[in-house]
Amino acid sequence: MVTEHPLRERVRPEFERGEQQLVVVDLFAGCGGLTLGVAQAAHERGLGLQVPLALDFDKAPVDVYRANFPEANVQVGAVESYFDGDLGATPTQTESVTRQEVGEVDLLIGGPPCQGHSNLNNHTRRDDPKNRLYLRMARAAEVLRPRVLVIENVPAVVHDSQQVVARASAHLTALGYDVATMRVELVKLGIPQTRRRHILLAVRSDLLGGGAASDFLEFEPEPVHDLRWAIGDLEHIDSTRGIDRPSRMSPENRQRIQWLINNREVNLPNHFRPPCHRGDHSYVSMYGRLSWDLPAQTITSGFGSMGQGRYGHPSQPRTLTPHEAARIQGFPDFFQFDDIVTRTQLSVIIGNAVPPALARVLTGRLLEAGVLPVPEVKPLQRSA
Ligand SMILES: C[S@@+](CC[C@H](N)C(=O)[O-])C[C@H]1O[C@@H](n2cnc3c(N)ncnc32)[C@H](O)[C@@H]1O
Repeated sequence: MVTEHPLRERVRPEFERGEQQLVVVDLFAGCGGLTLGVAQAAHERGLGLQVPLALDFDKAPVDVYRANFPEANVQVGAVESYFDGDLGATPTQTESVTRQEVGEVDLLIGGPPCQGHSNLNNHTRRDDPKNRLYLRMARAAEVLRPRVLVIENVPAVVHDSQQVVARASAHLTALGYDVATMRVELVKLGIPQTRRRHILLAVRSDLLGGGAASDFLEFEPEPVHDLRWAIGDLEHIDSTRGIDRPSRMSPENRQRIQWLINNREVNLPNHFRPPCHRGDHSYVSMYGRLSWDLPAQTITSGFGSMGQGRYGHPSQPRTLTPHEAARIQGFPDFFQFDDIVTRTQLSVIIGNAVPPALARVLTGRLLEAGVLPVPEVKPLQRSA
């Protein structure tokens, strides 16, 4: 039997159909990378996806989310305007309305913006007010009381000057959740990328039997996938779609990538770099070329620019296309990005996305343990 490559799947599964619905709320939802992972895990086990609320304050990712999850109630809005009460306070009027409209929630997921924590940014930005949005996830859990809460972020979130992880954990523990945190290397989940993320998992203690939330964060490593596995078939793609078009390159950058290809080098020597990128620096990957037989570096919104990282194609004088970047993030071909947003928006949306595999693996484990509801197994019909 020929098994289709999971990233080349062109037909979207009917995620909404199932014996029973898994109810998911996604905050800071972006284009829905986390939602997609949950939907895949649910679909694999016969459950349908129901999204009574997904929120992002930027219209462009919401448009992409809506195109891919047309039955979800996805709204353009600020999370703090839906969940506007203090931690520990009785629900505000807005929160009571949200709670009533959303109803019972199985899984609350969210990846608050992480620019303030990222090591790619200046370290003084660790007390960026955006970091406090992390605590809005704990507040949303207090209002909605989901069975399970997952907060995804960059690993540097643990160094945040506001101690948002410790504060969220303490608050969730007081609410009756068992909390575990972990730094996950996505390459071990089969993502062809050296991205690392931080996960906070909170499971309502009454659902755990004798277990602990930390049990679900012990992942079995998957085989490592290289770049060829993810995008090898797109090397010479003949397509007129915008998503398959690489960014325009300056003649200098074209010469740089061609030099790397011709000389079988992956790092550009100092004297070929622009003057501001020369010298003793740690950004050796800038102006670099990717290798077919390794995972890619972390995909950011700069994947279309040689100067923003190792984004030179392994064999072609160009940077990665949006299609290739989406594949490296783990989005299958059925996920629609085309013609919905501008090219700049597309780069930001793809770079910001969470690889679906993260939520897929975690949700799968929670479903198998019965912490999230699974459809009852129907007795076999006996013939007379
Ligand atoms: C890291 S991205 C989320 C990626 C997404 N979880 C996924 O799985 O693909 C963070 C998102 O939060 C949104 N955002 C930032 N601040 C927000 C706020 N206060 N309320 C709602 N959305 C916000 C941004 O527009 C961005 O799309």
